[in-house]
Amino acid sequence: MSAQRGEFGSRFGFIMAAAGSAVGLGNIWGFPTQAASNGGAAFVVVYLMLAFLLAYPVLMAELTLGRHAHGNMITALAKVSRNGTQRGLGTLVGIVGIFTASLILSFYAIVSGWMIGFGLAYPLNALGATDASTWLSEFSFNRNLLLMLVFMALTMTVVAGGVEKGIERWSKRLMPALIVTLVALALYVLTLDGAAEGLAVYLVPDLSKIWSTDLIFNAMGAAFFSLSLGVGTMLIYGSYISDEEHLPTLGAQVALVDVGIAVLAGFLILPAMYVAADRGVMIFNEAGGLLSEDTLIFVVLPALFDSMNETGTVLALAFFGLMSIAALTSSISMLEVPVSFLVERFQWGRLQAALVATVIISVMSTAIVANFDALFGLVITISTRYSQPLLGLALCLYAGWVWRRDLLLKELAKNEPLIEPTLFMKWWPWYVRFVCPTIVVVILVRTIA
Ligand code: TRP
Repeated sequence: MSAQRGEFGSRFGFIMAAAGSAVGLGNIWGFPTQAASNGGAAFVVVYLMLAFLLAYPVLMAELTLGRHAHGNMITALAKVSRNGTQRGLGTLVGIVGIFTASLILSFYAIVSGWMIGFGLAYPLNALGATDASTWLSEFSFNRNLLLMLVFMALTMTVVAGGVEKGIERWSKRLMPALIVTLVALALYVLTLDGAAEGLAVYLVPDLSKIWSTDLIFNAMGAAFFSLSLGVGTMLIYGSYISDEEHLPTLGAQVALVDVGIAVLAGFLILPAMYVAADRGVMIFNEAGGLLSEDTLIFVVLPALFDSMNETGTVLALAFFGLMSIAALTSSISMLEVPVSFLVERFQWGRLQAALVATVIISVMSTAIVANFDALFGLVITISTRYSQPLLGLALCLYAGWVWRRDLLLKELAKNEPLIEPTLFMKWWPWYVRFVCPTIVVVILVRTIA
């Protein structure tokens, strides 16, 4: 079995795939407005610190465990276990991880479907198909269901292609397209009236907000979600990295791309919001904060595009295309979690595994679409606020306490360019053992309390 195990064909391919997983809707619709409402550049600094002080070490735990085992989360946790209890608990953690990844995909696919819908609505409208265009951009059971299924089908097609021919190939195509589109959109929007004001809101630091505990806890949650941590996504991608690669460097590159794109998205979203305000669009909520998340993407920005005629159509197409790409490279990494499990555990072919996982997740997603008000928010809360940090904690405990230190160091030091232990090698094992679990426990206690 291991002879035919998938592997990323190149370092660039891995970085694009892992960064593609990390860069998603979270970066573009969450980060910029959170930054603006929480002290501008001050938030950006806190976020950067947390990304590197908390999320990067946990990312390294996943990548190292994955590459060491060359297998999914259950295999990896069993491999580092020293007794039956640890193995049993590891299996439980792995199963919860697979379930959480599927749950996250079941709501993510609905939102991603909307991105595709809005992306199609603008050109259709320009071509005169106004009914279709309206149908695609208005909330309805049928629309939500159909677009979710389309998005799941796209995700399945990529994953069924395999690690190198599916995931890597598409990430290598889509990620550069995403970056070019994002930069082009930001540059254009920055030339419009009102943009400078948005830039100021984004970049002028308001230091009075930086010590607010809420801000710090929000930034931590955002960093965790943004790097796709906890559910075994990064672990399985780590398992496809060749033994020739130096892991700490690769992990740092992935974290840098993720954070870089979040920061870059701020140069598009905030100026765009103030350009919209300049044209009479309401960009604040009743409490005086900036509108964010779904209202930002599906109300504020469309109002801006609508005010621009043909240019608006082009911008909307580029923007929703960008969001769809960001969503797809993330969703394939979520689907890979159950698929790799089915392939490795039951020796299924990839196509069969991808098909079965897609059907199960689509059924879960349909249940959410059918009971939207009751389930949508609930599933997000359970999977991202509770399950993800708990799983992150378990991974730190396995990497920091269960795994024998000398074996862990050996895995990390593969291809270490220097003979002297690097700063990373000196600090990380200690850090992932004490500091990361402490931080995660503190967040959890605050979330529950
Ligand atoms: N990181 C992605 C985003 O920012 C979402 C994502 C992909 C994810 N894979 C994940 C989140 C696994 C949690 C777990 O949108």
